[in-house]
Amino acid sequence: MVDIFTRIKGMPGPLGQYQEFADGYYMFPKLVGEIGPHMKFNGKEVLVWSLNNYLGLANDPEVRKADADAAAQYGMAAPMGARMMSGDTVYHQELEQKLAAFVGKPKGFLVNFGYQAMISIIDCLLSPRDVVVVDKESHACIYDGVRMHIGRKFSFKHNDMADLRGVLTRATKFAEESGGGILVITEGVFGMSGELGKLDEIVAMKKDFDFRLLIDDAHGFGTMGKRGTGTAEHFGVEDGIDVHFATFAKSMAGIGAFVASEKEIIDHLRFNMRSQTYAKSLPMPMVMGALKRLEIIQTRPEIREKLWTVTRALQKGLREKGFDIGKTEANVTPVFLSGTVAQATQIVVDMRENYGIFCSMVLYPVVPKGTIELRLIPTAAHSLEDVERTIQVFSEVREKLDKGVYSETEINNQRINF
Ligand SMILES: Cc1ncc(COP(=O)(O)O)c(C=O)c1O
Repeated sequence: MVDIFTRIKGMPGPLGQYQEFADGYYMFPKLVGEIGPHMKFNGKEVLVWSLNNYLGLANDPEVRKADADAAAQYGMAAPMGARMMSGDTVYHQELEQKLAAFVGKPKGFLVNFGYQAMISIIDCLLSPRDVVVVDKESHACIYDGVRMHIGRKFSFKHNDMADLRGVLTRATKFAEESGGGILVITEGVFGMSGELGKLDEIVAMKKDFDFRLLIDDAHGFGTMGKRGTGTAEHFGVEDGIDVHFATFAKSMAGIGAFVASEKEIIDHLRFNMRSQTYAKSLPMPMVMGALKRLEIIQTRPEIREKLWTVTRALQKGLREKGFDIGKTEANVTPVFLSGTVAQATQIVVDMRENYGIFCSMVLYPVVPKGTIELRLIPTAAHSLEDVERTIQVFSEVREKLDKGVYSETEINNQRINF
């Protein structure tokens, strides 16, 4: 027998192993100031490319006022209790109805956190007889939801439609034997790469296979499609999406999430989704604030246009300078460089300390060994000057990398004033 605490102390985990030098700098960094492209890190001004504040709503004056007014009127406690027991309000219902209508579904259900909700939605939709099929690069919350499923589970190679077809053939056999159904889950926009889930091709497969499709459009909501309703709108396949999910953590610059579908399916979730039935309702300022954010998304399309102006300028500029930015079709912009983890740490420190650029790095196992991903998140709040400066800095840093300025073996673990 082992003492659980002794085991934990000896196994810090894949990220925790770097805690000693990474904590507070590479991980858990503290950005100070009003949310936006220009904040302070380590006491210095930095140009920030790490925030999912896609539409810049975090600091929109109307949004700030709606949040503050609701906090003043209701406090953070109201309503008390779970929705089902004592925590429902007409505003919660108004918000979910408006969100559902926006994404073209008959009914919606508000949920407290996207991550928890996705786990719980998957758990609630599936019976042990069902077969679940997910894209291999799905977000952790999808994987964790799938882990709850005690029936058959399959994954298909990321965005590989031939592989999905093969998996669906096998899944169909299992479902026929077990007497269950098939749920396919993918994302609208993949948050690490900016690639789009091939929703059009997946929906087209409904001609050949019987399945229901659940999409996590966390990154597409507010950014994709003519009206900003998301990636399904971008592809024109709204009707082919059976269950539509998105979080408020990105374009909505808030907390909370929603799921939308047919009335009977949402009612099933309302009465059976454990993360909602057994948890407190979303506080009033979040709900009132979300209503305001949704209104802005619907009435100020120029904000989304600005996001795309900045995004196109950044991606075009990087491509013209020969950077590999993968297959992004969204605002998420990965920049892939060849190098070691040690080099990645030095680049990040150099950028933050000497060039005043704050971006996040993504390393193995999310990207292959020997690849460094620097992930840029353009927002509507960035300017074209921000873009120009950043492309210039990236070019200088790449030149230094090519010249061997950054050591291949020495992790930059200097604890710089933090
Ligand atoms: C694809 C995806 N799904 C779900 C979530 C979780 O949402 P939340 O932050 O609301 O818990 C995230 C990250 O925020 C995400 O990127």
